[in-house]
Parts: sequence; C-alpha cells; structure tokens
Amino acid sequence: MSARMRTRHFAQAKAEGRKISCLTSYDALTAAIFDEAGIDLLLVGDSAANVVLGQASTLSITTDEMLSMSRAVAGAVERAFVVADLPFGTYEEGPAQALATAVRFMKETGVHGVKLEGGVEVADTIRTLVDAGIPVVGHIGFTPQSEHTLGGYVVQGRGGAAEKLRADARAVAEAGAFAVVLEMIPADVAAQVTAELDIVTIGIGAGNATDGQVLVWTDAFGLGRGKTPSFVRRYADLGSVLLDAARAYKADVEDASFPAESESF
Ligand code: KIV
Repeated sequence: MSARMRTRHFAQAKAEGRKISCLTSYDALTAAIFDEAGIDLLLVGDSAANVVLGQASTLSITTDEMLSMSRAVAGAVERAFVVADLPFGTYEEGPAQALATAVRFMKETGVHGVKLEGGVEVADTIRTLVDAGIPVVGHIGFTPQSEHTLGGYVVQGRGGAAEKLRADARAVAEAGAFAVVLEMIPADVAAQVTAELDIVTIGIGAGNATDGQVLVWTDAFGLGRGKTPSFVRRYADLGSVLLDAARAYKADVEDASFPAESESF
C-alpha cells in the first residue's frame, strides 16, 4: 500500500496532469474496498441522507449521523484522504459555528478534512477553518443543501451565471481550500475554472477537464434502485447481484437445502 494521500499530493497531481479519483463512502466495508482499489479521496457526503437514510433531500441529516459514518470510513482506510461534509445548518451562522462543527469532525472521527457548500459567501468561514489547520474542500455550482433556492437539481453556471461561478471558485481558492467540487456545470465553464485555479477541481456532472471526478458510489455501481442522473456512468449492477443473492438464499431456506450438513455442527 502506498503512502497516505496528503493535500500536497493533490496539488502534485494537478501540476503533473494526473487525474484524481474520488467516490463517496458511508461505511467501513465500502471504504476498505475503495481504498484497496486506490481511490484517492473518499467523501463522506451528506448524500448519505438520500443513499443511506432514504430521505428526499440532504437537509435533514444531523451532525451525529454524519459523525458516526465519518468515523467508520476514516477508520477503514490506509491510503485514501477522507473528507466529511458539514451538514446543513451547522456552519451557515459563520466562522465560529463552522469551526466548532469542523473541530468535532476532526477530533471525533479521524477524517482528514471537511467540505462545505458555497462560494464568496463562505470565504471567511473557509479561511477560519484553514487557519485552524483543517483542510477544506469547497463545493460550488449545484449545491444540494440549497436545492430549494436553486429550484431543484438544475445545471448551474450557464450563460451569464458563469461569471458568478468563476468568482465563487476564486473566492474558495483564495480562502485557502485545497480543492473544490464543481457540481452540474457546463463542461466548458468547468474547464475554464480548472485552468484559472491553482487548487484542484473535482467534477461531478462537469465534464472531463476537471482535475478529478467524484460520483456517489451507489449511483456508479448500481445499488440504488431509482433513476440515476445522466452524468453518471454505471460500472456495475450491484442491486441485481444482491437481489439474486437474496432470492437464492430465501429459496434455499424455504426448501431446507440451507444449511447443509457441512454448514452444520
Ligand atoms: O454529498 C455528496 O455526495 C456530495 C457529492 C455529490 C459531491 O457532495
């Protein structure tokens, strides 16, 4: 296993033109597998609200829920850099509230950094966390915690809005974040932002010119049963594998072929 990923390795990757792989993870089982696969960054996303807890939006997830998932993921990896999302309502009051929340994640879970949503308006907050020694990932473009203001899952940064997006990206970088997620923005705008910034850009629905890519793992590997966004590529159909396995188990239990003698004491 190679050395643990550090923020400098992300900067080096960008400088050398090496793409960065990121996935979400919410538990120790997947974290260990994704780490073994060499995924560079694991995000304990607040998408856990949808994926793990079955909620309609990310807004309802609590700090305690995110803390326990973050602890599971951070404890399971040897190499990957683990970042936890700060939940909605735990940082918007300003730098002091954000610092108190971020410190809990760093002290209580073992994650290596935190992510928060927003651009110019959270620059002071990012600066405060960075000054306290906490690596920060920004998140601009479509920001799910603001889905009701943004009018649902809609592409951001089109036309005249590209200028605001570029200003947000600059503010996040100047505040000291080491990376920024660009979600659901036109590929040409993402390419421009990536070229303009010294820090790493991680795209999701932002084309292939960003420095790295992130996907919600259940979308990418087919565990969710619902519709997946058009920007997702499906690498597996784990939902069908599990369904077949559960049906086979049920059949074996019902016809008493499980457990066999070799599976009994
Ligand atoms: O919560 C999450 O999974 C995220 C990714 C979509 C970037 O923020």
